[in-house]
Amino acid sequence: MIMTTRITRFAVALATSLAAFASAISPARAGGPIRINVETANSALKLFVAPEDSRLYELGYGAAKENYDFPKKLNRQEEFYPQYGDGFISQPALQITHADGNTSTSLAYVKRETSNLDPDIALTKIELKDPAYPLVVTLCLKAYRDEDVIEQWSEIRHEEPAPITMLRYHSAAPAIKAKDYFLTQFQGDYKREATLAEEKLTPGIKVLDSKIGVRATRYRIPSVIISLDGPAQEETGETFGASLCWSGSFSIEAELDWQNRLRLLAGINPVGQQYRLKPKETFKTPGVLWTWSDKGKGQVSRNFHRWAKKYGIRDGDKPRPILFNNWEATHTDFDDAKIVSLFDGAKDLGVELFLLDDGWFGNKHPRDNDRAGLGDWEVNRKKLPQGLEHLADEAKKRGLGFGIWIEPEMVNPQSELFEAHRDWAIVQRNREPELSRYQLVLDLTRPDVQQHAWKSIAGPVSTRGVSYVKWDANRYVTQPGSSYLPPDEQTHLMVDYNRALLALMSRMAKDFPDVMAMACAGGGGRTDYGTLKHFHSFWPSDNTDPRDRVKIQWGFGHFFPAATIGAHVTAMGNRPPKFACDVALSGAFGVDRDVSKMSAEERRAITNAIALYKSTLRQITSRGDLYRLESPYDGPRAALDYVMPDASKAALFVYQLADGEAKPVKPCGLDPKRRYTVRELNVAADSSPSDAKSVDGAALLRDGIPVPCRKEFDSAIFEISEAK
Ligand code: GLA
Repeated sequence: MIMTTRITRFAVALATSLAAFASAISPARAGGPIRINVETANSALKLFVAPEDSRLYELGYGAAKENYDFPKKLNRQEEFYPQYGDGFISQPALQITHADGNTSTSLAYVKRETSNLDPDIALTKIELKDPAYPLVVTLCLKAYRDEDVIEQWSEIRHEEPAPITMLRYHSAAPAIKAKDYFLTQFQGDYKREATLAEEKLTPGIKVLDSKIGVRATRYRIPSVIISLDGPAQEETGETFGASLCWSGSFSIEAELDWQNRLRLLAGINPVGQQYRLKPKETFKTPGVLWTWSDKGKGQVSRNFHRWAKKYGIRDGDKPRPILFNNWEATHTDFDDAKIVSLFDGAKDLGVELFLLDDGWFGNKHPRDNDRAGLGDWEVNRKKLPQGLEHLADEAKKRGLGFGIWIEPEMVNPQSELFEAHRDWAIVQRNREPELSRYQLVLDLTRPDVQQHAWKSIAGPVSTRGVSYVKWDANRYVTQPGSSYLPPDEQTHLMVDYNRALLALMSRMAKDFPDVMAMACAGGGGRTDYGTLKHFHSFWPSDNTDPRDRVKIQWGFGHFFPAATIGAHVTAMGNRPPKFACDVALSGAFGVDRDVSKMSAEERRAITNAIALYKSTLRQITSRGDLYRLESPYDGPRAALDYVMPDASKAALFVYQLADGEAKPVKPCGLDPKRRYTVRELNVAADSSPSDAKSVDGAALLRDGIPVPCRKEFDSAIFEISEAK
């Protein structure tokens, strides 16, 4: 009896689904395949809807001029946004259990629409529907023409009688075809962030992911480079770049299948993040940025940088101030007089803004070290009896801006906040809470915690005189449990947390448009374009030893422009002052060093560096296009240049990381037909500047610039300007 009922129900469902399927596929059946091209200036993603089955397939992604042949026979492995359970057998982008328990999804084309948002941006929306279920998935593809970037995300919505369970919901999953594929990831740990690792992919799935929910990029960033048919080269070869705009747990999966096709899936990590989607709610996945170039990974980086400056970061064209940050100079051990004395030193060096770091808050549990006070965002009356306003006033008197450090998502158990709201912390029921840096993460899915976090941000940031904020996050999540979410939504925790987090960041940017912001998470633990949209720069690493910084900045520079990469001169590593300054000068320059403890040579080096940054290098490094000339991974030195978009000016940096030969460095990006004057900048105190030379662009590109670098920690900077 039970059996018969089941069969009858199945037969009815099948009949309904076939009828629905027939109506859904009719638009494609009417003629040949429907072509959908998403194009930028040089690249194109070409898709089609097959008349035979109404599914959306990928023809190819690469050069705009490439003409791909339609397949003679449809191949389900070439679906553009593959779904689990109805014929597709590789790694799916989407896996859903429907309200009735059906574990398969089948998406057929309904319609597409392209709108020009402005002359540079076109948004294509492709609507797909499951013929058997009221489930619609809209694939969104935003093409940024001049930057050769395509941003993709999906919007998932249904009207089933009860919630559906999304097991996998990646943002995108394009496939690429070539002979060989080389994947470069940017991995590491605290103090060795963004370290390059390249490998040739072999059949199977390579997963690059993060499961730690908060400061999720601690061990790798959600950005990769794929080079076709050989290891990635700087200026030649077909190369793709992908960067996911998400601050939480992510997964990038590269599947090389039995037909030697590479599919690259990018999105929210499915591990521990099943999501029950209620009827009529729309789930928008994070965007993933794709770019393609046939001019190597150098052009891939330049595409990302140009996109970021225009669309991806706050005030991309605004100069970043020269910061003085007191973290390495004082840690939490300071008082009013100490900070004011640092202002004097900062002013003498030529710094523009003082950033007061951790340690300024907490009274019952003063923040005198990292064990207490997080969560209690009132100024510490003992250390700073006259308050933050007084410090801002004193900074202003010296012509300095004033900024403040916050860590609004966290709590120390030793705090008034925790005493009042133990249940606000993320912990797992029936488990011993794990502390990291003596702190816990606050549960941002709770509306009361969201309100508290907003107060922790808006309070300090709206202090009179504050024009800069550093937003830190010093631990990740190891026990993702919420006292607020119901049992069947516990797996929503880190997804909803990060949505709430991004909403807070966005609100801060909107409510405080004149306050500049730096993203930090125990160094570079939150480095992604979901976060950076709301910030001006990020702190890449607590490792400020300039020898290591060359590589760390090199790594992040693959995706993020120089003006976003905080680079401060500190005492770490005790390197020659000129070397430390020259390394910081190729990023967003700053200082973190007690001036009263500096040698005369250090003071002179930093003062000169700041003058140079203000007069010329800030403009060239922030507006210029980056060319990586010699990799620190390949030899004893690193070299890079930034070239203004009209090729009229460039700055070239050379860093000697081990003893080597004094070979000329060949610049890139200059115009071979123009004549340039080459002048060494920031010459060491004990050497005399060589005369400026006038050279043909072609000769410069061919023969290079002789550099005075041979020994470990030698360095040089050249300005190359079009001869008048
Ligand atoms: C993190 C940051 C540092 C500093 C400290 C303060 O480690 O990366 O720059 O702000 O926190 O506790």
